[in-house]
Amino acid sequence: MDSRSLCPVDERADAPTVQRVTETPFRTVIEPFRIHSVEPLRMTTKAFRETKVREAAYNLFQLHADDVLIDLLTDSGTGAMSRDQWAAIQHGDESYAGSPSYFIFRDAVQELFPYQHIIPTHQGRAAERILFQCLGGPGTIIPSNTHFDTTRANVEATGAEAVDLVIEEGHDPAALHPFKGNMDTALLEQLLTERGSDIPCVMMTITNNSGGGQPVSLANLREVSEIAHRHGKPLFLDACRFAENAWFIREREAGQGERDVPDIVRDIAALADGMTMSAKKDPMGNIGGWLALNDNALAQQARNLLILTEGFPTYGGLAGRDLEALAQGLKEVVSHDFLRYRITSTAYVAEALDRVGMPCIKPAGGHAVYIDAKSLLPHIPPLHFPGQALAVALYEHGGIRSCEIGSAMFGRHPDGSESPAAMELVRLAIPRRTYTQSHMDYVIEVAERVMAIKDTLPGYRIVDEPPVLRHFTAAFEPIS
Ligand code: F0G
Repeated sequence: MDSRSLCPVDERADAPTVQRVTETPFRTVIEPFRIHSVEPLRMTTKAFRETKVREAAYNLFQLHADDVLIDLLTDSGTGAMSRDQWAAIQHGDESYAGSPSYFIFRDAVQELFPYQHIIPTHQGRAAERILFQCLGGPGTIIPSNTHFDTTRANVEATGAEAVDLVIEEGHDPAALHPFKGNMDTALLEQLLTERGSDIPCVMMTITNNSGGGQPVSLANLREVSEIAHRHGKPLFLDACRFAENAWFIREREAGQGERDVPDIVRDIAALADGMTMSAKKDPMGNIGGWLALNDNALAQQARNLLILTEGFPTYGGLAGRDLEALAQGLKEVVSHDFLRYRITSTAYVAEALDRVGMPCIKPAGGHAVYIDAKSLLPHIPPLHFPGQALAVALYEHGGIRSCEIGSAMFGRHPDGSESPAAMELVRLAIPRRTYTQSHMDYVIEVAERVMAIKDTLPGYRIVDEPPVLRHFTAAFEPIS
């Protein structure tokens, strides 16, 4: 991977015990780990995959994962745990109440996010459900830079309205802006002025997953925090990819380049009043999440809801061993060596896809590469799902599983109406520490092959769908 474009290699603050030296950096940023245990991949043919995807009603969520060669559906829960995480699992204490594993987990979370109440949940959406059940409800409005799909669904499930206020550049795949996840603070100010009494809190998603994995700057977070608090509203972070966001701040924001990632994370945390978290992303877990906050009364209400469906407040639906693995994962994800490799390797894929003519959201996000299917397949109208068409083609041609983030995911509204999403994207999400550079070189070669036949790809129609979160289970058919 060529590191020069995004991440100059240096040894700042990585290991305080190592003398800092100025050396000519190498072009190649290597995986900062070696492989300890392997999982086999099964090679398949194009004809086999064409049958399998037809049987799955052209919905890649319905495939058997065994029939996928390179699985870039999500970076959620699909990362490889480290030797030290597996070792930590052996320390798991499964006491129903007051497990020492909970306190190890709580301390690791508070080291980065020093909120008073740390409430474990089985994954991020459980934290979202609890928070919005407490704060949402009919007539309320929850603004965010961009709500992720489960966040939006959990807001809407309470009868509240989820409003996205990302900056203009955040809607333009080609716009070059270092922090395309930023919130439009003028729009936030206006909404709070006009509808303040209906707004129980403000959310910020870092990084902005639905908008291309784009980061939010510390300056924007400061401004959002100031506006929200001036209007008397708490600010909550949806912080799944906080470490990647902090690395982007270190790389791109004036005055941040010499700082340690954990310090940047603590600055972010201090601007908010709490967070929802999916620990299946940056905390390197295969499962887990949490809700953290400072407000005592709200924490009490949240714990009461937690006990109803998740579990006792010191395990919240997780096993003690999961809590141990997360505590260790949180220590590993803030390593500069890891984050440099992580962000550089994602940019490597985006730059290579661009070179073969596949337009990607620029600059590359942290956890994923987002292909702009609308501009790649102009012959397919948005409500014939160009993103779905490209995702199916990547699977048929190369066994790559990706995810449409466009009108199939966002085009249907709670009242049953349909309209095109803001963007038609295909996300190649990169699991942490799981695939090597040659896997990614293969992905790039498959993309090149799909480019050659892109004008022949059909659009799709939905023949069966549930009323909410339809992309997980909808049945599609190609339009001939
Ligand atoms: N918020 C964001 C920004 C997310 O990306 C996700 C999950 C969640 C909340 C919900 O967390 O899955 O633990 O319940 N994103 C996954 C993805 C599913 O593929 O991007 P969860």
